[in-house]
Amino acid sequence: MKHLHMTLAALSIALFFLRFVWLMLGSEQLQKKWVKITPHVIDTALLAIGIVMAVKLALSPFEYMWFGEKIIAVFAYIFTGYYTLKLARNRTMQIIGFLGAMGWVMLVARLAISKQPIFFI
Ligand code: HEM
Repeated sequence: MKHLHMTLAALSIALFFLRFVWLMLGSEQLQKKWVKITPHVIDTALLAIGIVMAVKLALSPFEYMWFGEKIIAVFAYIFTGYYTLKLARNRTMQIIGFLGAMGWVMLVARLAISKQPIFFI
């Protein structure tokens, strides 16, 4: 289950990266149906498997601070990713959004691997 979760996380990041590259290139690929649908399917499965694992391990985000931080960072990654691809109105804002999303996802990965909180003690 953890391996599936990690594979989906890698796919989610790779697809976000690819869509950002297409955005920068002004590519028609972004309009393709599979490009619009697949990331939602992957992200939903990633989230669902994460929740199932958390329930199985009895991981409460209030008790395990690294997990609480990880959830906040995942939401921030989702929002900055959405901002980059949909809301940002010019190239500068798109690049800033992309860098923000990368920072959040790096925090998510770091928290997932180290299981040590960084901001909440
Ligand atoms: C961008 C999103 C995410 C990424 C990059 C990510 C990454 C990872 C990685 C790399 C691991 C394996 C860590 C290890 O070596 O033990 C992991 C485990 C886990 N993730 Fe995620 N994850 C994401 C989203 C989520 C979400 C949304 C949840 C729950 C709501 C979640 C819950 C978990 C749980 C419960 C584990 C197992 C922890 C353990 O073994 O103690 N993840 N995640």
